[in-house]
Amino acid sequence: MSSGGLIRGDDGTLRLCGAPLEALLQAAGVDTPAYVYDLDAIAASARALVAALGDRGVCCYAIKANDAAPIARVIIREGCGIDVVSGGELRVALACGAKPDQIVYSGVAKRDDEIDLALSTGIRAIHAESVEEVDRIAARARALRLRDASIGLRVNPSVEADTHAHIATGHDEAKFGIARDDVPRALDAIRASSGALRLVSMSSHVGSMLMTTDPYVEALRVLVEVVREVQARGFTLRYVDAGGGFGVPYRDDQQAVPGPAFVTAARRTLDEAGLADLALLIEPGRWLVAAHGVLLTRVIQPKRSNAGGVARRWLLVDAGMNDLIRPALYQAHHRIVPVDAPASAPAGSVVVPWRVAGPVCESSDDFGEHPLPDPPPSLLAIREAGAYGRSMASTYNTRPIAAEVFVSGGAVVSVRRARAIDALVADETT
Ligand code: LLP
Repeated sequence: MSSGGLIRGDDGTLRLCGAPLEALLQAAGVDTPAYVYDLDAIAASARALVAALGDRGVCCYAIKANDAAPIARVIIREGCGIDVVSGGELRVALACGAKPDQIVYSGVAKRDDEIDLALSTGIRAIHAESVEEVDRIAARARALRLRDASIGLRVNPSVEADTHAHIATGHDEAKFGIARDDVPRALDAIRASSGALRLVSMSSHVGSMLMTTDPYVEALRVLVEVVREVQARGFTLRYVDAGGGFGVPYRDDQQAVPGPAFVTAARRTLDEAGLADLALLIEPGRWLVAAHGVLLTRVIQPKRSNAGGVARRWLLVDAGMNDLIRPALYQAHHRIVPVDAPASAPAGSVVVPWRVAGPVCESSDDFGEHPLPDPPPSLLAIREAGAYGRSMASTYNTRPIAAEVFVSGGAVVSVRRARAIDALVADETT
């Protein structure tokens, strides 16, 4: 049975969900690059957040982190809802069994057909991100002859989170959310819908990779003040959505408070504000999946150079920025470790810093420097690749989206094969 997570076994081989990674690759019948996920560990993460919320809230998985059906199904089975940001994600969530009343939909630029799908499905709420959008949602609700369509307002809390600029969303310059000063206009727009819309929630999302609960609570305190103003204007809310953003450590020197601590801190903030009667919604993506997936890659060859008397050492691998764009996009450092037992390294092998880089024709296709044996191992695992790996993958350089292997109870339970190169070439040429 599963012994949970990514561990190095007694024999020195790297194991996921209790099984050696190389054996999982063989059992799945796929080659590298390949993402391998531990569904049991993902289920355990979901269970921990659902337990922390108890009957006082809903955990809506931000499916943008990884929209693979086996993953979404496991998370839904643990009692979670889904946070979507597109009509496509909404359709995946429904196909994976999410209950409409447990789906929320954010996004700054929803198209009419996406709004229509959300309205006609009867999801928990569409979270509007601008006053103009409230008017558009009202118009669509009227066109569909709906009354009391559930709408939430995503508020920009004007809080600077200590995170990478590309994933900070709750500050004044961000395109996300309705500025606090604009909330009264959004309420007027809801009133002006004359019953087409019903306000059910206020939400915020301050940013991703929060390593402490401080910015989360700070943003929620702002939201609480807005909630009071909204209630004072006679609106009755059903829930408060504090957003996602729970961080995970990617580097050895990073620490992050565990996901349930965000729930406890948020719940306490609501209770202390006298809002104990409101349900708490959370929208974690990364925390549920990042640590429970690896991207396996083979070393194609080392490359040593000596330009201007400076010795350099690259390890060129078969996974690239098209499989994991986080290092190129956010300067993220994902740990890279050998899959084979260190004992299998040849005599005289030493650990040296290698610059690991992929095959894509971009200088930013670079996974950074990693201490690895020399001579190099043949198979490597890029860690914490369960979130924002496959879901941000592309076919850049006419490279297929990598295979995915889903593991439970130490065995492969599902495989999504890489698209055949022939099919990809046909896409481009026919
Ligand atoms: N809710 C909203 C409204 C969001 O915009 C996001 C993420 C989440 C929830 C989930 O955030 P999480 O719990 O996963 O941090 N591609 C980036 C992360 C972008 C996040 C965008 N919004 C990365 O790889 O770090």
